[in-house]
This record gives sequence, structure tokens and C-alpha cells, in this order.
Amino acid sequence: MLGRDLVGALEQAGHDVTGLAHRDLDVTEEAAVRVALREHRPDIVVNCAAWTRVDDAETHEDEALAVNGRGAGYVAAACADHGARMVQISSDYVFGGDTRRPYTEADRPRPRTAYGRAKLAGEQAVLRRLPDAGYVLRTAWLYGAYGPNFVRTIIRLERERPAVNVVDDQLGQPTWTVDLAHGIIALERSRAAAGVYHTSSSGSVTWFGLAREIFGLLGADPDRVAPITTAEYPSPAPRPACSVLGHDAWAAAGIEPFPDWRVALRRAFPHLLAAQAGCGAAPASRPA
Ligand SMILES: NC(=O)c1ccc[n+]([C@@H]2O[C@H](COP(=O)([O-])OP(=O)(O)OC[C@H]3O[C@@H](n4cnc5c(N)ncnc54)[C@H](OP(=O)(O)O)[C@@H]3O)[C@@H](O)[C@H]2O)c1
Repeated sequence: MLGRDLVGALEQAGHDVTGLAHRDLDVTEEAAVRVALREHRPDIVVNCAAWTRVDDAETHEDEALAVNGRGAGYVAAACADHGARMVQISSDYVFGGDTRRPYTEADRPRPRTAYGRAKLAGEQAVLRRLPDAGYVLRTAWLYGAYGPNFVRTIIRLERERPAVNVVDDQLGQPTWTVDLAHGIIALERSRAAAGVYHTSSSGSVTWFGLAREIFGLLGADPDRVAPITTAEYPSPAPRPACSVLGHDAWAAAGIEPFPDWRVALRRAFPHLLAAQAGCGAAPASRPA
């Protein structure tokens, strides 16, 4: 989902970009990663590859770790050998999600899920191997035109059901993949120091609030969305109650902040609807 929007944004920005899908390169194969770096000789590698099935990771932690932890480490090691910089995409799930204030980049990670532990292992592998050239971007609640995500699911459910129940006791930052793609480009152009950055929309909302907003954008009655609690919607991997990320490092680097989640959703909406209608999403460029 992120990789496709990132390739599009990089091409629009005039970069010489190679997008590798899973079938082109398996990041768990160390030798293949080295060959890819040797072949393509990139200045910078953005690792969007991940095991993203959060619930399945609880029963397949080794496989999740192989991709999100060791795989990221193989990419970082190959970047170190070739003098390339690297951006590792990470997640709010490295935190416990049990605070009432936004997490800072300096807060100590304390993952509560197998997915979160694997993502943290990836962060550590990248920062260890690339102390001066590794960037860890923690993002959250991603949605985009490609691939399944909450926003697209709610657009579909609005058509299919008279009413939907949505969890109202988890707070986060819905983040458009196109905004993250442009953030990565801005970071690449900046003189920001290597390290950890939080890259999510400004503001925060619950899943229930987000679903109501989506209904509103569809011209549907937001009161068809009913609030429920996490306890009423159990999942194998516990979901963070509050995974709001603060953006201190991003601001200190002087990079333009991500828009408020509501503004981003409005911009993204036509692209998401086009994707939903199956007519292919036009490449999304962010208005100035
Ligand atoms: N989605 C979110 O809400 C969210 C939130 C926070 C952070 N993130 C992070 O953001 C990044 C992008 O996520 P996304 O939502 O774009 O996920 P996605 O759509 O699931 O994309 C992940 C990609 O990684 C590929 N992949 C899996 N195993 C691989 C391997 N061994 N080698 C190479 N490629 C492999 C997948 O290919 P196949 O499908 O063919 O296996 C898929 O194309 C990930 O690092 C994720 O952890 C996502």
C-alpha cells in the first residue's frame, strides 16, 4: 500500500526510482538483498516491506520477526556496505499504547504484540548498522488507495449495511500513504540527522470518530455509526488504547508537518473512491 504510492510520488518528483515487489526481492534472503543493492546501486533505500498481519503475527512470531526484524537488518547491512542511506518504516505498535499523552521519539518502546516486537527489532537492526545513515519513521493507522485498510472498509460497509459498530476507545492518527510518501521525500531533501522520527497526521481521533467522518464525506448519516468498546470487539493482538505520536524530532528538523487527519482524509477521498470503484486511482499528488 505505501510502496506503490511512494514509487508514484518519487517518480512525480523526478527521482530515478526502482520499486521492488515481494516477488522481485524477498528481504529475508540476505544474499538476494546484497545482489539487489549491487545491481541497482541506490543512494537511498526505503524499506516498505513488512509482515503486516498484526493478529496472525501472534501465532507466527518467528515469520514476522524474519521479515520485520532480520529482513530489515539485511537491508541495512547491504546499505552500509554500499554507502546508501536507508529509511525504515516502523509503527506506533512499538509502544504499549497505554499513555494519555503523545509518545515522543525519546520514549522507551514497550511493544505488547508480536508485530510490535518484530517492528522494534527492525528499528534496532537499522539504527545499529546505520548509525549515521539510518532513518526510522514510525507511522500509524495508514490508509491509501492500494490495499485493504480501515477507510476503504468503512466506504464499503456504508453501502452494504444499514448500521456499523465501531470501536470508540482507541485513539490514533489516520495517516494517508501519500502524505507519508511526500514526508519521506522531504526528509530525503532535508539535512535531518539519522535517527527516529514520528511521521503521522496531526490531531487524533478514535476509529468511531473516523468512521463518522467517512460517512459524512459519503453524504451518509453519521448516526448510522454506533460506538462500541474494545472489549466488545476482541482481537488476538491487543490494540493500543492511545497510540498518538508526537512530532518533536520532525519539527526540530524543520520539515513541514503532516496535515491534520481531517484535511488529509478530504484530500485522499477522491482517490480512495476511485480505487473502490475499480477504475484505478490516479496518481495522487498533494496540493501545495
Ligand atoms: N498499515 C498500517 O496501518 C501501518 C501502520 C504503521 C506502520 N505500518 C508500516 O508501514 C509499512 C508499509 O505498510 P503497508 O500498510 O503498505 O503494508 P502492506 O500493504 O501489507 O505492504 C507490505 C508489503 O511487504 C511485502 N512483503 C512481505 N514480506 C516480504 C518479504 N519477505 N520480502 C519482501 N516484501 C515482503 C508484501 O508483499 P506480499 O503482500 O506479496 O507478501 C507487501 O507488498 C510497513 O513497514 C508497516 O509495518 C503500517
